[in-house]
Amino acid sequence: MLPKINFTETTAYKYLTDHFIDISQTDIKHLFTQDGERFKKFSILFEDILVDFSKNRINDTTFALLIQLAKECKLADAIKAMYSGDQINQTEGRPVLHIALRNQSNKAILVDGKDVMPDVNAVLAKMEKFSNAIISEEWKGYTGKAITDIVNIGIGGSDLGPVMVTEALKAYKTRLNLHFVSNIDGTHLAETLKGVNPETTLFLVASKTFTTQETMTNAHSAREWFLKSGAKKEDIAKHFAALSTNAKDVAEFGIDTENMFEFWDWVGGRYSLWSAIGLSISLGIGFANFKQLLAGAHATDQHFENTPFEENIPVILGLLGIWYINFHGAETQAILPYDQYMHRFAAYFQQGDMESNGKHVDRNGNNVDYETGPVIWGEPGTNGQHAFYQLIHQGTKLIPCDFIAPAQSLNPLGEHHPILLSNYFAQTEALMNGKSEDEVEKELKEAGKSESQVKELAPFKVFDGNRPTNSILLKKVTPYTLGSLIAVYEHKIFVQGIIWNIFSFDQWGVELGKQLAQKIQPELKDDAEITTHDSSTNGLINQYKSWR
Ligand code: F6P
Repeated sequence: MLPKINFTETTAYKYLTDHFIDISQTDIKHLFTQDGERFKKFSILFEDILVDFSKNRINDTTFALLIQLAKECKLADAIKAMYSGDQINQTEGRPVLHIALRNQSNKAILVDGKDVMPDVNAVLAKMEKFSNAIISEEWKGYTGKAITDIVNIGIGGSDLGPVMVTEALKAYKTRLNLHFVSNIDGTHLAETLKGVNPETTLFLVASKTFTTQETMTNAHSAREWFLKSGAKKEDIAKHFAALSTNAKDVAEFGIDTENMFEFWDWVGGRYSLWSAIGLSISLGIGFANFKQLLAGAHATDQHFENTPFEENIPVILGLLGIWYINFHGAETQAILPYDQYMHRFAAYFQQGDMESNGKHVDRNGNNVDYETGPVIWGEPGTNGQHAFYQLIHQGTKLIPCDFIAPAQSLNPLGEHHPILLSNYFAQTEALMNGKSEDEVEKELKEAGKSESQVKELAPFKVFDGNRPTNSILLKKVTPYTLGSLIAVYEHKIFVQGIIWNIFSFDQWGVELGKQLAQKIQPELKDDAEITTHDSSTNGLINQYKSWR
């Protein structure tokens, strides 16, 4: 069971409230002049990942109080509860064990007294065999040709993780071409099918429940397209595999259960890329690289489990988020990878974070009277710089940003990488230091502007600075490092959910819209006027009917 503590009633919270007023008088740049050891003190080197959190609005007291907050909220007990397979997803009555999927130590992890590791390892072995057979061309399609294209059909957690990882690790690509179909909009499937050949395409129907409307509709249409190409029902076995927890519905769909890659209800959808849902990853970058991804995540799992909070990266990043959201009133968190391959990283954590911590009811069932999960957003640098950084630098909102970059490029090309990285370093410096009125005036005078022009222009060119950032510098984007980094963010989400006293592993908020869509669907079958909803919804439906 998880602790159920209201963090706003802890001693640390009260101290932090007072301390917030004190520290608001000092800018981050002044904290650097006050403390020559600041970078050393507020950065952590973990294997090939350097996390520098020194450009934050914190000093030794803030840091100590945030750590105290985590202790008072019994974070250590919560971590133990997750790692020991307790049913911490209480509203769904399930343990939360994505850590078991990457448990390279193979140490027993018990669910209802049964070690889950033999099953985890058996599925991994099956994934390895299958991936090798497809990649090596030993597996042939129904006309005897080797598979060239993989189409993963899934949505949410059964899509976003594999998409993000296979994009981030494209440099490690096998000979297979990957495609992902998620949207129920027929365009997504239709456009994908235009570019593939049924004789050489393998479909992965990826759905934990195997009931998700979007995925099942797309999967049925894909099967129809396949059969229309001249293939027979018995050929489905060569061209369709299922990644699911629901063996019964997989068999009903017509997929050979030999081609079913199982996972379990203790794997949350948005934490499932490490499970059979990762089959597209294993096919896309090879099983050995997929294993490295798991190994990297496992290293973070051990770090999170065993490291004192003062040096624990997910704990620190989680607490910094609490500091900005609950004390400074920040409403969003930007994730900004300076790596083109990682262009879906922020999108992935939109689900990871917002579906986990977008909750307003606490673990006692009461409405909270404090802020919880932030809006997560971001785009790769430097594209973001030419789009929305204006608001981060000079807007009215405080936006804590994570800047992520690899030191080594996977495509060293002339001066590209040093230029990219100089932008990466410059942005956090600029956000912290800003530019004072004096500096602006001096600059304008040097540029030959008149006194009146200087007066007129100066206010627009001033940057307040004091905008907080974390810099995460990776040696290189490898499967191992990426696995570690994803796990850091996963555990950060866990830390925040514990402090906010919410359940991070259910997602009841996505249900209502699904239910109503099911009610509306039959109403769209004929042209009869609809009067059963509010006047807006009726009006929209009726206009749609008149235009279709
Ligand atoms: O969006 C709700 C959700 O349940 C997600 O949590 C999940 O990742 C997604 O739908 C897909 O679910 P499934 O894998 O069961 O098709």
